[in-house]
Formats: sequence, C-alpha cells, structure tokens
Amino acid sequence: MGKKSRKSKKDSPLSPQSISKGEIFRERIEKINPNILPELKKRPEFGVRINRHLADLEVVEELKREGFDLRPVQWYPYLFTLPMEQRREILNTSAYTGNKIYIQSPSSVLSALSLNPQPTDWVLDLAAAPGGKSLIFSEVAEKVSAVEPDKKRFFRMKRNFKEHKAKNIQTYNKDGRFIYKSCPGWFDKVFLDAPCSSEAHIDLEKEGLTWWNLRRIKRFSQLQKELILSAFRSLKPGGTMVYATCTFAPEENEEVIAHLLEREPSARLVEVEVPISNKMEGITQWEGKNYPDEVKKCCRILPSGAYTGFFFAKIEKEK
Ligand SMILES: C[S@@+](CC[C@H](N)C(=O)[O-])C[C@H]1O[C@@H](n2cnc3c(N)ncnc32)[C@H](O)[C@@H]1O
Repeated sequence: MGKKSRKSKKDSPLSPQSISKGEIFRERIEKINPNILPELKKRPEFGVRINRHLADLEVVEELKREGFDLRPVQWYPYLFTLPMEQRREILNTSAYTGNKIYIQSPSSVLSALSLNPQPTDWVLDLAAAPGGKSLIFSEVAEKVSAVEPDKKRFFRMKRNFKEHKAKNIQTYNKDGRFIYKSCPGWFDKVFLDAPCSSEAHIDLEKEGLTWWNLRRIKRFSQLQKELILSAFRSLKPGGTMVYATCTFAPEENEEVIAHLLEREPSARLVEVEVPISNKMEGITQWEGKNYPDEVKKCCRILPSGAYTGFFFAKIEKEK
C-alpha cells in the first residue's frame, strides 16, 4: 500500500518531484514579470561610482583619456555606466587601485540615494558588508554605523572603509537582529540591505541554480522579518528607513514589508521617486497570499543594461 502510493505520487505530472528546480524558478520569475528572464542572462554594462572622499569628476576625464567609454546616468552626477568588455581592464587603472572609483550597480546606488541622507544625519546600515552603501551615506551624512555579523566580511568591510578614506563610519561586528535592544530609537535614517537569496545575480547559463531552492527563500524571509523589526525599532520617531534586497521572491520582499506594517502601527510606507523606466510597483498577491494594497508603493527595479534586479521600499516612523 505504502509502496504503491509513493509510486503514484512520483508519476503524477503535477507532483513536486516531476517539476525541476529550474522550471519552478522560471515559472515564479515569469509570474512576477515576463521581461525579467531574458534580461537575467545578459549583463551588457556595469556601473562605476566616483568615491567623493578621494576624487572628483576629473577622474572621469582621466579614464576617458585612457579610452574608457563612461556614460553618465541622468539622475546622479557621480555615477557612470560602461560596456562590460571594459570591466576587467578598469581594474588595472590607477583610478581603481587608488580607490577613486567604486564598481557598483546603478540599482544599488539608486536604493541608497532614496534614503536621502542629509549632513546632520546619523545613519545605521544594518547589514553592511562589503560596505558599498555605507560609503555612499558617508559622503553626505555626519556619521554612519555599519553592522556586519560575519567576521571575514566584517574585516574586509573595515579595510574597504579605510582604503576609501571614509572616516565617519563606525563598524560593529554584531547580529543586526538585536541592534534595537542596545540602540532603540537612535538613528535618523536606517538602511537594511537584507541578506537574501540574490536571485538577481543568478546566471542561468553559467552556474545555474545550484544554491537556489524554496526552503532557502523561506529561511531568508524569516530572518528578514526579524531584521526589519530591529531596523525599524532602531529608528528615531520621525525617521526614515529603506528596506532593500537583490532578489525577486515576494516572500523576501512585499511579505517582509507587510509583516512590518502589521507589527508596527507607526510604520508608514511612502512612495519613492524612481527616475528610470525599467521598474514596477510592488505585488499584492502571491501564491494564494494577499498583501495590503499599500505595498504597491514598493519599487522593483527590472534588470536592464547596467541595472541589476532590485527591490526597495521606503518607510517612515510616525513622530
Ligand atoms: C546584501 S549584503 C549587504 C551589501 C551591502 N549593503 C553593500 O551595499 O555593500 C547582506 C549582508 O548581510 C549580512 N548579514 C547576514 N545575516 C545578518 C544579520 N543577522 N544581521 C546583519 N547582517 C547580516 C551578510 O553577511 C551580508 O554581508
């Protein structure tokens, strides 16, 4: 009896065993937006940001003279895109080895800028290594606190800050889930670039889906729900935070935002101005679950050109 039922389950065309991981992944991504998959395979350009602690726009002219094809983005004067063929070559320039430029996806820069750091702000970056976004905040804000629990990543991040001459960043080798206990309501701004399943960086042709699975997504979702509460509780009343991931899974995105809104009545989701066309609003229905209509205010960046897939949401804490 037991044997028979196992066999019939395996043979059913609808049983989970008969659907490959790749098919599940593709089906989920297509359901979110059919334009994602074809772009996921390509990566024709990359982004380069000027490190304002060490350089100004002169470095752009220097690189252009060396033959690099830097194109400005319309929404930030210190960010440029280049053709992917020049990525390896730029690593040998004195601009790169001298830390005057930082290779960073425009999606990442856009999410960091959406926090709108100000000169008097104390910013908490709750999941910070390797530190690319903390470096952006440190160029404007008075003080940045960068948290990273992984020892190896933590020390690499510290070195990164030193090399980029970002002197206003304090670093903490701690678990972000508990930061709110020692710093409740301390920060003007909080950024949570949550650890995630990184679906936007999957190269289906090269390494495939070796580390992708639904269990992993569930585990990340649980961790993200704890982290977002810690991030929000560390924020001053009247403060602003941004939650971001580089994954498409709604369980790690809109569901985490819905969890915060349900648990923290003083959290208000606000719309962000995103000056690009490769974007879509947040999803309100997924796999039989409904998320509050408000989550439409979240922004999903669709992969295109130098832009990698990204999700971010801006939240304010009532005074
Ligand atoms: C997406 S990366 C952050 C990238 C970074 N913001 C940047 O732009 O350079 C997420 C980071 O969260 C860290 N992380 C994992 N678990 C964490 C936790 N419980 N608390 C804080 N950070 C955590 C990971 O080690 C990883 O370095």
